Amino acid sequence: MAATVDEALELSPQDLLRDYEGINACAPMVRYGKLPFRETVAQYKTQLVWTPMMLAAEFSRSATARDSEFSTSKTERGTFWLNERHCGDGAAEWDASPEPQRGVHSPPAPSRKRQRRVRGRVIIQFAANDPVQLADAAELVQPWVDGIDLNCGCPQKWAYQEGIGCALLRKPELVHDLVRTTKARLGWNFPVSVKIRVDDDKSRTNELVTSAVAAGADFISVHGRTRHQSSEAHPVDPEAIAFAASCAKGVVPIVANGDVFTREEGENLRRQTGVQGVMSARGLLANPALFSGYAQTPPEALQHFVRLSTAYGLIFPLFHRHVSYMLENHFATRRDRIYFNSLASYAGVLDWLDDQGFLGDAAVDTIASGINRI
Ligand SMILES: Cc1cc2nc3c(=O)[nH]c(=O)nc-3n(C[C@H](O)[C@H](O)[C@H](O)COP(=O)(O)O)c2cc1C
Repeated sequence: MAATVDEALELSPQDLLRDYEGINACAPMVRYGKLPFRETVAQYKTQLVWTPMMLAAEFSRSATARDSEFSTSKTERGTFWLNERHCGDGAAEWDASPEPQRGVHSPPAPSRKRQRRVRGRVIIQFAANDPVQLADAAELVQPWVDGIDLNCGCPQKWAYQEGIGCALLRKPELVHDLVRTTKARLGWNFPVSVKIRVDDDKSRTNELVTSAVAAGADFISVHGRTRHQSSEAHPVDPEAIAFAASCAKGVVPIVANGDVFTREEGENLRRQTGVQGVMSARGLLANPALFSGYAQTPPEALQHFVRLSTAYGLIFPLFHRHVSYMLENHFATRRDRIYFNSLASYAGVLDWLDDQGFLGDAAVDTIASGINRI
């Protein structure tokens, strides 16, 4: 299965979703979806990886905002062996005779599924309510990403008051303008998508999805909660996702999001909703290797994240939070967790991880050389 990165096919996110089985996604996460985390999940069967939401207005206006909000690297995309979704063209097996010959059974058609090595994709998410600002921000970052996503789901009060995030859920005309203006600016072939929440009023979901598709959105991610439902208090609603997906009428692929904490939950959600992709947020925070079938963060994933964080210079508080999430199931006692959370430096966390046996010898050396650069 070994192949060099250069041999991988580079496809748009929508082509990956449409043509390959089992596509998984890392959800946009404000604060958390920075480069070291994105590159870590991309090692573990996560083909589509979102950046956190960024404000298009600030991103387009300020070079400082761009530098602090977004960085990328040549190695952040993973490569994956994937099964093609369709089994050949079927023409050879098709019997055109009007009457089936009784008593003659054709042998089952041989499976023609091919495996291909493909490269993962990185999608940047913007919050916007001004089409020109969104197009400006998208154009600036276009050379570095594989798709632009419009946030139509952020439920926070400040976002609603600003008219961004979930404020767009009931403004299908504005979503149409945002998508269309951005597509027109970037070129029709450059992927633009939207991420929505479901609505209690199904006709609103229908209008929103129909409008996004008509504007040229290439795929849609659907978080199966309404804007009033918190992730902690409300389980995801697969039926509502399936309904949103049906509104797209098969014109564009759909990614389902909500309550995916294990690979099995991801496959269940895919089956229940009939969509092409599944997306996880909190599950991947706790276990970046979940789509590879690990029940909890494996030490290699942690080591990988630590190495990348020191190499790329992730700020300490964020590094600390990430490691705390990843180790949630590893802390033997509450006291251990409290002690870990009290650590105040990279050196302190690395010593603790080393004492607990999470870091191999090689990792410690590499990490020590990275840490001098922070
Ligand atoms: C810490 C955190 C930050 C988030 N930031 C964003 C964001 O920037 N953009 C977005 O569309 N959704 C954001 N979300 C929502 C997630 O992308 C996702 O829709 C939601 O958490 C449901 O998925 P889950 O059940 O797998 O956590 C965030 C969620 C979390 C937990």
